[in-house]
Amino acid sequence: MAETPSNPMQHSPPDEIVWEQVERAEERWFIAMVVMLTVMMVVVVVTGVTHALQPPSNVEIVDPTTLHLGGEFAESNLGTAAERNGSVTVRMIADEYAFVPDCVEVPIGTAVKFRLTSTDVIHGFLLPDTNVNTMVVPGFVSEVRTKFSRPGVYNMPCNEYCGGGHHGMWARVHVLPKERFPQLTALERKSCAK
Ligand code: CUA
Repeated sequence: MAETPSNPMQHSPPDEIVWEQVERAEERWFIAMVVMLTVMMVVVVVTGVTHALQPPSNVEIVDPTTLHLGGEFAESNLGTAAERNGSVTVRMIADEYAFVPDCVEVPIGTAVKFRLTSTDVIHGFLLPDTNVNTMVVPGFVSEVRTKFSRPGVYNMPCNEYCGGGHHGMWARVHVLPKERFPQLTALERKSCAK
């Protein structure tokens, strides 16, 4: 051998390639790939059928152009409201690029129902470390129920890209001790937005 080629790609293939072996190896990898794809398809279909039969929110429609004129999402109804059965309902509106109100208070260990809608484009509503994660779609009411087990401030980022100000679209949920919540005035209870 006169000189060793510096580029490994320049090696000529060894003389004793057994093409049958190469074909068999390719066949094995092809079968492995088909099996992997089949397993993934089965997982997608099974989880889809068993876990996602219900749409993520109840299908309720609302006219996004008249939200401010009255009804459930009129300004005076936004924020946290205590229900007769002891649970609370939080109503919020998402629009570019804020949640209204951008801070709400709820009691710990209590059934909380969030109801949101959008005035413009699709936004996202996520509370990290909870089961709350839904899209907020104009024309529809997104409803999510949860119960907070630890007090504190939960940041609430919009997690659906909604435009140039998306990264700045945040709100907060303050989870208060159970005895603290009834001490708030009606106005304080509605929202902690500054
Ligand atoms: Cu609103 Cu992203």
